[in-house]
Amino acid sequence: MDKQILINAFYMASPAQAWTGLWAHPDAQGERYNDLSYWIELARAAKKGLIDGIFLADTLGVADIYEGRPDAVMRAGGMFPSNDPMMLIPAMAAVTEHLCFGVTANTTYEPPYLLARRLSTLDHLTRGRLSWNVVTGILASTARAMGVEPVPHDRRYELASDYMELVYKLWEESWDNDAAVRDKASRTFTDPGRVRQVSHGGHYRCEGYHLCEPSPQRTPFIYAAGGSGKGTAFAGQHAEAAFTAAHDKPSARRIVDSYRKAAEQAGRTPDSIKVFNAVTVIVAPTEAEALDLKRQYADYSNEAGNLAMMSSFLGIDLSRYDPDDPIEYVESNAMQTAVEAMTKHNGGKKVRVRDIAAFADLPGREPFVVGSPEQVCDSMIDWIDETGLDGFNLVRTVEPAGLQSFIDLVVPRLQDRGRYKTQYAPGTMREKMFPEGGARRPADHRGAAFRHRAG
Ligand SMILES: Cc1cc2nc3c(=O)[nH]c(=O)nc-3n(C[C@H](O)[C@H](O)[C@H](O)COP(=O)(O)O)c2cc1C
Repeated sequence: MDKQILINAFYMASPAQAWTGLWAHPDAQGERYNDLSYWIELARAAKKGLIDGIFLADTLGVADIYEGRPDAVMRAGGMFPSNDPMMLIPAMAAVTEHLCFGVTANTTYEPPYLLARRLSTLDHLTRGRLSWNVVTGILASTARAMGVEPVPHDRRYELASDYMELVYKLWEESWDNDAAVRDKASRTFTDPGRVRQVSHGGHYRCEGYHLCEPSPQRTPFIYAAGGSGKGTAFAGQHAEAAFTAAHDKPSARRIVDSYRKAAEQAGRTPDSIKVFNAVTVIVAPTEAEALDLKRQYADYSNEAGNLAMMSSFLGIDLSRYDPDDPIEYVESNAMQTAVEAMTKHNGGKKVRVRDIAAFADLPGREPFVVGSPEQVCDSMIDWIDETGLDGFNLVRTVEPAGLQSFIDLVVPRLQDRGRYKTQYAPGTMREKMFPEGGARRPADHRGAAFRHRAG
């Protein structure tokens, strides 16, 4: 059977995202990002379109490398202001039954004991529809704001591995399944004999009880987004899904293969990682209308904001270069994958600074799929079939109109082609993604090693 395509809507608790400035388009409602009704409407729309998940990015910092200050992203509303994404999830969960939620949280600045509790709470409140996008934090501005020294790229991943060991202990080892007995007759809520303190003495230290009883998934479904050597190895150990932004199909194929190989090297089956690629979709009833929308979006997208955003992703101050200067490879402390995509894996095409400023399809960013419903549907199917990808994260443009058009125009065509579900699958997020696997960690996953035998 042909693979069904998984779809997440890629958002952030901010007025606009990596395509800065689009909040100002007349049809965009991003300025309502402080309003719970905005998120509830989004969740209801996603549910009607059988969207798999709302995937929330978070960078916990401000893009201030460009010109050495944050003014450009502040003006353009690019990932700033930025609310706490976790707060949105209970409201969206309350109006949906199956929609899943991905939330980004970093291992460098979030204390593991506190994050483990917040994620368990969300896994309870969503009835097991939670995933954690594990990132290590690329912005030096976060380190300064948190009053700590920035951690070098590879070291962040080493620390993240230790962090994961600790949170697995809290999620998998601290409680037996049935420890919260809720026995009114004996007036016992939790049987203390079935809860144990975990002990961790790595870089992160903990002698403590997990504060939450086991949630439906215990460990939330795990995403990872790093694509460097270290990032891929980390995903191979820990991720059940990876999020990437390959610009062309050969790059996507290479990245998919590298994640599958990394899983295998970690002793897991190669297909135990689903791979999602970011994509900017612009669809309208006709190709001409879609191209017109693209022109409008280009008009509202903010060039200085886009350069500022990418300066922080690349770890390079792009204001220092002439618009016609090509991007050269540098050893980046930020997203090595994006620098490599622009300089090494770009099919010989020189990416210039002015290309990065534009609302454009370019190496180092996600691909564009623009056209009529039929064209978009064909293109998405080709991407999946030619690369081994499992699904897409739809990059936020002019929203919620963009997502609504996808649901109205593309979803029915994908369904007609047998490439999209016609109803949600039951169960937790892990069961929906891996129906054969069960709610808790698969036995070959690193986290399973921490499972307490009595549990
Ligand atoms: C598609 C994609 C989405 C990402 N989203 C986030 C995010 O929301 N927050 C964040 O702090 N980092 C994010 N990252 C950064 C990665 O987690 C990682 O820190 C970065 O890519 C550097 O690691 P690498 O050199 O291994 O790729 C994202 C990366 C990619 C490729």
